[in-house]
Amino acid sequence: VPVQLLIKNGQIVSPASTVRGHLIIDQGKVAGVMLRDDNLPEAKTVIDANGLHVLPGLIDPHVHFRVPGLEYKEDFNSGSQAAVVGGITTVIDMPNVIPPTATVAGLQAKLECADGNSFCDYAIYAVLMEGSLQHILPLAEAGVCGYKIFMGETIGKIEPPSDGEMIDQWKLMAETGLRCGVHAEDNSILFYLRKKLQDAGRKDPLAFLESRPPVSEAEAIQRAILFAREAGSKLMIYHLSSKQGLELVRRAKQDGDVDVKAETGPHYMLFDGRDMVRMGLGSLLRMNPPVRESEHGEALFKGLLDGTIDVIGTDHAPHTREEKVYDDRMGDIWKPISGWPGVETNVPVMLTVVNEGRMSINQYVKVQSENAARAWNLWPRKGNLAPGADGDVTIVDLNKTGVIDEEKLHSKHKLSPWHGWHVKGMPVYTIVRGTVIARGGQIIFEGRPPGKFVTPVA
Ligand code: DOR
Ligand code: ZN
Repeated sequence: VPVQLLIKNGQIVSPASTVRGHLIIDQGKVAGVMLRDDNLPEAKTVIDANGLHVLPGLIDPHVHFRVPGLEYKEDFNSGSQAAVVGGITTVIDMPNVIPPTATVAGLQAKLECADGNSFCDYAIYAVLMEGSLQHILPLAEAGVCGYKIFMGETIGKIEPPSDGEMIDQWKLMAETGLRCGVHAEDNSILFYLRKKLQDAGRKDPLAFLESRPPVSEAEAIQRAILFAREAGSKLMIYHLSSKQGLELVRRAKQDGDVDVKAETGPHYMLFDGRDMVRMGLGSLLRMNPPVRESEHGEALFKGLLDGTIDVIGTDHAPHTREEKVYDDRMGDIWKPISGWPGVETNVPVMLTVVNEGRMSINQYVKVQSENAARAWNLWPRKGNLAPGADGDVTIVDLNKTGVIDEEKLHSKHKLSPWHGWHVKGMPVYTIVRGTVIARGGQIIFEGRPPGKFVTPVA
């Protein structure tokens, strides 16, 4: 009987090597790689990847697909179309929805929205607030891949737990073996500075940066590291944005007495917060935590290369044009909401960085696939192309050029600070468990979206 899929003649990439060969996928799983050209099996689908790079399915560990409750911004159908067209085979979805993903019932409500609507696979985070202690073990039981604490205020206004309960939560999380990510900003600093700037009449875009300074991120990171270390619990710093925060992560890793990992996004490395003014991006580039001056971005990029930062997440955070105050981007910076859709533009942007020679394709698959799978307990099912792994593959053409066009995004609201960026390196096939879902920027899969809920590997 023919196998499900044969990907011939590609450059097969792992964090350790690039080898020319043929990848075989059967019954949804990787069956193996053949290096010789003879005796290739018959396959129902054959892709000739000559001149292309065959990557382990890329993972975006930070998306907001907004269900239940905020479908007007995005849902699993639109968000996952953006993901697969953008070369992503698995996403991890954020809990700041209505009701928040804070209980098993909240998780079930989200899973009902996702089931049959997702073109990619998905894992789910739960959120911890004051009173969440009792939900930690049931949520692990129900299959979340990790937890999130919003230490600082952001979209959805989910309050952080008190430090007292948080310490108990960290201890209980240690029993689950699951990691907890933190939105690391400190409310008392944020609230004080915002009021001070507003009282002074500031409403220009850069006032937003000043209202959420590096010290507010560093303060929260320091506290999270302290609690995680004390509890023997695993920590992720989401969307690291400052060199001060990076230094704290670097030192904690060097000390080696706490399991801390860090994520950043392409925007933190490649934009400068002053582009809000210089490039007229204004409110479009408003994000929590903020995109800062390029000295931070350069430090973060170095941190990614030296392993201080483990993963790239986009913080795909869609909102309507009205919420972004898109037609008055340079107006009152306190009015618009923070975030923008990023899941579809990330891979071309980062492949462009690869093409510029600033990182290797091997380093890229490490931070966009293997490390995310390992951090969130999806390894070795996800994040690699070894026999037995899910047959998730992103085939990219490193020579294909394009210009990012927000009109073409698959998200519900088509706006992007990357609009107009010239990219070199684009995903050309997105394959989930052996099925080609997207090709050349289009969804080609027909039928009920086949994405599955992925739970942690025991
Ligand atoms: O800018 C942001 N938007 N930062 C967050 O932490 C949340 C996100 C959202 O949900 O829109
Ligand atoms: Zn966040």
